Amino acid sequence: IVKNRIIDIFSRIGFSVSEGPEIEDDWHNFTALNLPEYHPARDMQDTFFLEKNPDWMLRTHTSSVQIRHMEQNQPPIRILSPGRVYRNEAISARSHCFFHQIEGLYIDKNVSFADLKQVIQYFTTELFGKSEIRLRPSYFPFTEPSAEIDISCFICHGAGCNICKHTGWVEIAGSGMVHPNVLRNSGVDPEEFTGFAFGMGIERVTMLRYGIDDLRLFS
Ligand code: PHE
Repeated sequence: IVKNRIIDIFSRIGFSVSEGPEIEDDWHNFTALNLPEYHPARDMQDTFFLEKNPDWMLRTHTSSVQIRHMEQNQPPIRILSPGRVYRNEAISARSHCFFHQIEGLYIDKNVSFADLKQVIQYFTTELFGKSEIRLRPSYFPFTEPSAEIDISCFICHGAGCNICKHTGWVEIAGSGMVHPNVLRNSGVDPEEFTGFAFGMGIERVTMLRYGIDDLRLFS
């Protein structure tokens, strides 16, 4: 339900859905996304590799679909890539090794950071109702600059509650301007085009939207 709501909100401003395989190769999951073989940020996403051939893996994010889409299409591009992603998070016996993401990509001439901010503000207002957003500087290899997106806590409106851990803000997505190397790797000319990308966890958004306090209820 939440995935479809998100797709519906973005489709009103011209985004369409693009999907790709859950078993991915190294190029689309990592290398093309500006994560060459020995890049330390590969450790940020504990990966399940295929035992017989570690060049193949369960995708750790749907950013891989964005690479596939750019390889096949020239800008203007406005896509959402929803789907299941996998992380080897062996923190406890009951921890979850897969979840669902929805990532977005917008590439055209003269796309700016202000466009990213406006699109995200539109989205959060549509999904959560009147809310403020805050962008915090962050790091992702595939975006520069990068920002973590927080929305003002719609439960306590800043008074302090458990959902926002008494900060008044909750994190909902990662985002940034697509790194020129990523555009170049996918056959898009970074001298001509710019764009932004964002990604969020559907379970996480659902928990916030419906006040669900335990991720294990989804299993
Ligand atoms: N791919 C990132 C992740 O899975 C999310 C993200 C997407 C961040 C696009 C920035 C831009 O954590």
